[in-house]
Amino acid sequence: VQRWVETGLLKNAIGEDEPASVIVEGHDVAIYRVGEEIFATSNICTHGQARLCEGYLEDYEIECPLHQGRFDVRSGKALCAPVTVDIRVYPVEVQDGSVRLGLA
Ligand code: FES
Repeated sequence: VQRWVETGLLKNAIGEDEPASVIVEGHDVAIYRVGEEIFATSNICTHGQARLCEGYLEDYEIECPLHQGRFDVRSGKALCAPVTVDIRVYPVEVQDGSVRLGLA
């Protein structure tokens, strides 16, 4: 990570069953909370034009709302059909309760 950029999101405001989304310097990013952990991926599914922030998060897996493909939010790995291409993940950190995104 070369620099950390504020997302303007507070960790505690992100619901475990309701991923957040934010656009940071042109990156459309979905932010997930699993317990006390925060993860970030590209918000756009690698299979079609669906927004993962509108999907269903279960444990570390986000299910796309359009065709139910799943990704691991920790690694971005595509887990089941119809998604075959992994999704980009972003480093995140929480500083004083605020979520920051790592950009190259
Ligand atoms: Fe996400 Fe098809 S658009 S699984």
